[in-house]
Amino acid sequence: MHQSSQPTNAPPTVPLIDLRAQHQALEAKLVRGLRRVFASGRFVMGPNVHAFQEEAAEYFGVKHAIGVASGTDALMLSLTALGIGRGDDVLVPTFTYTATAAAVCHLGARPVFVDSVAGGFNMDPADAERRITPKTKAIIPVHLYGEAVPMEPIMEMARAHHLHVVEDVAQAAGGRWGAAMLGSIGATGCFSFYPTKNLAACGDAGMVITNDDEVADRVLLLRQQADASVLGGQKYSHPTVGFNSRLDEVQAAILRVKLPHLDTWNQLRIKHAERYRSLLADCGIELPAGSRDGSHVYCLYTVRSPERDRLHQHLRDNGIGVAIYYPIPLHLQEAYRFLGYQKGDFPVAERLAKEVLSIPIFPELSDDQVDRVGSVIREFVSARAGVTAEEKTA
Ligand SMILES: Cc1ncc(COP(=O)(O)O)c(C=O)c1O
Repeated sequence: MHQSSQPTNAPPTVPLIDLRAQHQALEAKLVRGLRRVFASGRFVMGPNVHAFQEEAAEYFGVKHAIGVASGTDALMLSLTALGIGRGDDVLVPTFTYTATAAAVCHLGARPVFVDSVAGGFNMDPADAERRITPKTKAIIPVHLYGEAVPMEPIMEMARAHHLHVVEDVAQAAGGRWGAAMLGSIGATGCFSFYPTKNLAACGDAGMVITNDDEVADRVLLLRQQADASVLGGQKYSHPTVGFNSRLDEVQAAILRVKLPHLDTWNQLRIKHAERYRSLLADCGIELPAGSRDGSHVYCLYTVRSPERDRLHQHLRDNGIGVAIYYPIPLHLQEAYRFLGYQKGDFPVAERLAKEVLSIPIFPELSDDQVDRVGSVIREFVSARAGVTAEEKTA
């Protein structure tokens, strides 16, 4: 029998994420899919990749979905397919995962960082517009934590300044903006299926979606070392320098089992977020935005507090999984020092980096677990209110 390391009367622990639960529930289907792959002997560019691409294109409401090796590659292939390279500038939020900016750098282009909008986490379109120069060729709105970037101002700015819009949907698979699926609004949408994402592979995987036939052809070509045979040309003839960024059959078979569950899983994430909201409203901790018609799919549930580090410790001490995404904005990272930004250049993002804290969210979380996290946070808030009152009277 499984032995718990917890004493029986210890309060329950709540993990930040539990990757086993989803796979236990789908085990029979996953194993069946994997057996078929092994029996077929086709591990690269086989029937599962083609079928997943068709199923994903239908789900996301786009003409083309192209499986690639990771979310980072999805960004690199998209930007390359759009003609971005050396000498070009690309607008990127400074408050995102490094992959967004790294993809730009690897192509020889330059990320131009943009601050977050006051009171939110996503890119501030007004700040983005101020940074446009004749060298600016593209903008990457990142739907951070699963929250949709309001796309109208981004698309309007892009039209006015002739910019390509590459959506980074790594953290927001299945999210919507109005009637549109996130990723289907810009020139391309770039997904990561890293195991912690809303739609997750069992390893690395990614995808580019687009409605543009020419861009789709270029991504298809680039994905396989730009071998002309991909588009009906001669094998081992290479019109350009490509990448090796194929999605493999094992990951595609897994993603095909999971895709039909994505909406249900996102609804469960939204339900947990609403429960957190009812438990934590008005307690002095800033909560993420609500989900309007799927505009937030809570890949992460990120709260804000000026006492973040104390709250972080309190949650950890009480067995609650927590993480900080991200403690250092990109413009202050060693990796991007060559761009010449200084502390103070992006005040909203710098404050976010000091205040954000992500607490447990995943579809299989129980109401009891959400309640436990809520009560540990409320305990912290009351204890700190007592301390502050004492400090004031002292
Ligand atoms: C916002 C964002 N963009 C891009 C990526 C890169 O995806 P991958 O890890 O699949 O390369 C990630 C991954 O965490 C991400 O969170």
